[in-house]
Amino acid sequence: MDAALEKLLPAAETPPTSIHGAMRYSVFAGGKRIRPILCLEAARIFDENISAALHPASGIECIHTYSLIHDDLPALDNDDLRRGKPTCHKQFGEATAILAGDALLTLAFELVGATPVDAERRVAMLTEVATAAGTVNGMVGGQMADIEAEGKRIGAKMLEYIHRSKTAALIRASVTAGALCAGAQAKDVTRLRKFGETIGWAFQVTDDILDVEESSAALGKTAGKDIAQQKATYPALYGLPRSHEIANELATKAIAALEPYAERAARLREIAEFLVLRRA
Ligand code: IPE
Ligand code: IPE
Ligand code: MG
Ligand code: MG
Ligand code: MG
Repeated sequence: MDAALEKLLPAAETPPTSIHGAMRYSVFAGGKRIRPILCLEAARIFDENISAALHPASGIECIHTYSLIHDDLPALDNDDLRRGKPTCHKQFGEATAILAGDALLTLAFELVGATPVDAERRVAMLTEVATAAGTVNGMVGGQMADIEAEGKRIGAKMLEYIHRSKTAALIRASVTAGALCAGAQAKDVTRLRKFGETIGWAFQVTDDILDVEESSAALGKTAGKDIAQQKATYPALYGLPRSHEIANELATKAIAALEPYAERAARLREIAEFLVLRRA
């Protein structure tokens, strides 16, 4: 994945060098690459040659990285540490960080649009990714609701909406874009959409748990900030033991959606298990 991103991102020497330097700084700061990995492994179920899927996988990692850069801005979560390094705005200033985020979002669609598969598959992937990054049950909508829920007592339905929108939507699109890229039929895309949506939800519940249970050093981002900022989280609403149960129940449900693929989905199943067991 890193080699693909290296090739597909503008070179640091390309003018304006400051924006390309900032984009590269955040993309190569050391993320887990969970979304692109899910994209590639979903593609592998339908086609052993997954090289075309490097395009949507890279595009989605660009969107994810943009979402982190903007999430960390002083006007949003106001974080200083990301992927074990100073946040983009700490390193380059707010103006550059905002533009680096904008640039990564835009580049993502250029990359997905340039995937070497037929036009029908490209359009289907673009629609999946655009919807997931957007405002209606998508990432930006979820981020808006997350900010507005700060310091408020919100119910289970709203909490579910925030997590499914701000995080699960893009993880779902990672899986469906991989499947679509590899030529999956509609009924398979529907199954994988269910898997991606559910494991993405479990992923954000786990992110909330780790914010409470782990250290900043382990996470590479500031721990304990959800309580400090009175964020709407699963531990805040349900407590830690029940949050762990919810994450595990969701992972089990996600994995059940892979049943028809038996051994072909072995890697996807292992990744799903990892996503709720991880400690960082
Ligand atoms: C963090 O995502 C932001 C959330 C949506 C929870 P990751 O935990 O995937 O972050 P990186 O990519 O590994 O840094
Ligand atoms: C962010 O959720 C989800 C995004 C869309 C970026 P968080 O605010 O909990 O993510 P972290 O904990 O800062 O990585
Ligand atoms: Mg946030
Ligand atoms: Mg945050
Ligand atoms: Mg978090």
